[in-house]
Amino acid sequence: MVASSWSDIDDGLLNPEWYAAGEPHDAFTLLRQEDPVHWAQPSDYGRPFWAVTTYEHVVGVLNDPGNFSNYRDTKPPRVAARLTASELYQRGTDVFLTHLDPPLHTLHRQPVEGHFQAASISTMRADVEAVVDELLGTAALHDRFDLMQGPAADMPMYVLMRFLGVPRDDWEWLRSQVSRIFTPDDPEYAVEGRSAEEIVSDARHAIADYSAQLARTKRSHPADDFGSLLARTVVDGTRLDDHETGAWLSLLLAAGIATTRNTAVAALWLLHQNPAQRAALAAQPALIDQAVEEVLRWITPVRSRLRVARFDTTIGDRRISAGDWVVPFLSSANRDETVFADPHAFDIQRERKSHVSLGEGIHKCLGMHLVRLELGVFLTKFLAQFPHFSIPNADQPQWIVDHVLNGFSTMQVELRPR
Ligand code: HEM
Repeated sequence: MVASSWSDIDDGLLNPEWYAAGEPHDAFTLLRQEDPVHWAQPSDYGRPFWAVTTYEHVVGVLNDPGNFSNYRDTKPPRVAARLTASELYQRGTDVFLTHLDPPLHTLHRQPVEGHFQAASISTMRADVEAVVDELLGTAALHDRFDLMQGPAADMPMYVLMRFLGVPRDDWEWLRSQVSRIFTPDDPEYAVEGRSAEEIVSDARHAIADYSAQLARTKRSHPADDFGSLLARTVVDGTRLDDHETGAWLSLLLAAGIATTRNTAVAALWLLHQNPAQRAALAAQPALIDQAVEEVLRWITPVRSRLRVARFDTTIGDRRISAGDWVVPFLSSANRDETVFADPHAFDIQRERKSHVSLGEGIHKCLGMHLVRLELGVFLTKFLAQFPHFSIPNADQPQWIVDHVLNGFSTMQVELRPR
């Protein structure tokens, strides 16, 4: 096993470096079998927390907002510090849907939910196809490129822009602001006298200002897009203000871009690494929906979530105290051998059981139908256009060094046979 002791596991669970060689599944297997609701006491994290690793308990926690709160944040922080209320407000994350508990969560999710439902998202198919066609057309001009920078990276951004109704002329500008938030150290974004932290903060403010302006435009020129819906959304008798519409824009940019890109790239890597699965999909393109679900399960793009116990309660036979941090590991639940046969195999024809990659319960991913549409269209078109693609260094993948997001930092692809 990768980890040599329980203390190594405790130190690793929320440590980005632990994931640098890929998911430590042998440690998660041990946790599921020996201590599925484990009181982890890392030496350098700042506080202990419950590591929840079986499918049953992960789903149980996610489905129990009465006992387990999303308040303040749902991403386990790198070190155990909480942002203050004013810091949360300055970032706009205080009103992120994903950080609200019922009844506020219900009040804010219910008015927009219809726009994300399958029937509504299916009307975007032609838009998604147009975005993917354009991006693959540009990609085809090259023989080799980094998938993490190519069409898989641009697709989620451009689709989201269309979904929101952002004018085409603003896409590149908005994209560069988002990139500043993700990679503030990139020399392209350097500003003399501004630290990386200030560059992130500047980009956040620029996005918030842009969002307020977009809402004003959508109020005077409404269209059938999510930006227009937000501009007229009323919660508890009051129209969303600039702070709230700005938070929505930031949330969608944060939730929907890197996750979708990482999954699309992982799909191509998994198909390259599993020739029999690739051949099955080529022979039977109708397997695409199953393939997308299996990629989501296998890669688990969001490894874990954070909840805080609101009351004294139990998970299985463990007593949880009010205020305890609880971390359900989605990546472990998705490899639970009591639910998924041969769980580490990538098998697009496996018996269909629900994975937890898009969450569970009241906070289940609002973008789930959009993600499925995007991944299905992207993979179908990529495989049709570049049936002989290959990944030269597939055996030495460069995993992202992050304790929550799963995926690769770089992945070269060759589009044509040599
Ligand atoms: C592969 C891509 C994606 C993955 C793996 C993913 C995963 C997740 C997960 C695990 C949650 C639950 C969070 C929790 O319970 O704490 C979530 C929530 C959410 N996702 Fe996604 N997501 C993806 C793409 C998207 C996209 C494309 C959008 C929007 C266009 C989106 C919007 C949201 C929103 C708004 C929530 C919060 C829902 C709520 O709190 O009620 N996601 N997502």
